[in-house]
Amino acid sequence: MTTKLQILDREFQHSNDRNPIENIKSRLKSRESILKKMESRGLPLTIGSMVNNIFDIAGIRVICPFITDVYQIAQMLISQTDVELLQMKDYIRNPKENGYRSLHLIVKITVYLSDTAHQVPVEIQLRTIAMNFWASTEHQLRYKKDKEFTPEMLRRLKECADIMADADYQMQKLAEEIHFTMKVS
Ligand code: GTP
Ligand code: MG
Repeated sequence: MTTKLQILDREFQHSNDRNPIENIKSRLKSRESILKKMESRGLPLTIGSMVNNIFDIAGIRVICPFITDVYQIAQMLISQTDVELLQMKDYIRNPKENGYRSLHLIVKITVYLSDTAHQVPVEIQLRTIAMNFWASTEHQLRYKKDKEFTPEMLRRLKECADIMADADYQMQKLAEEIHFTMKVS
């Protein structure tokens, strides 16, 4: 999946003279995190229940400069015949209550081993640099487990997310004004 994304980035770079992907990070969920998630959801701790319920064991985060890049990369990826879209959650058009924004895809790809082929789900999170600033810093704040956020602090966190969204919108408009990216509705 990382290679697919790198190829899309290079092709776009070739025809548009700029990169629609700023950064790609991939991670595998640890055994401990998988077990913790299954326990918290009350799932039986079996391989079968893991395969049927946990779709974010393989995760990729794609950071793009512009909002339109996020949608274009997602569209190009899911149009590929060997990529099957299982789920799409658009937290950009519909942000979470706390202000979180990203486009989440769960896709299935085939992974070939020496004598077998496996259908493997991959969670792909696509977001802008501004959305990533908010999500990364909010994540660090949230994982200080001994501290609780007051409603007033949550309001300020949300305000930061909205400021980032406004910056994204302004940058998008500037890009369109200089015909930097294609306009999408
Ligand atoms: P999970 O059980 O966490 O997988 O929740 P879900 O199945 O409802 O998935 P969802 O698409 O809502 O979010 C999954 C992932 O998105 C999380 O593991 C985080 O990486 C990211 N995410 C979702 N909400 C937030 C948020 O409020 N802040 C940050 N920093 N990341 C978030
Ligand atoms: Mg998750």
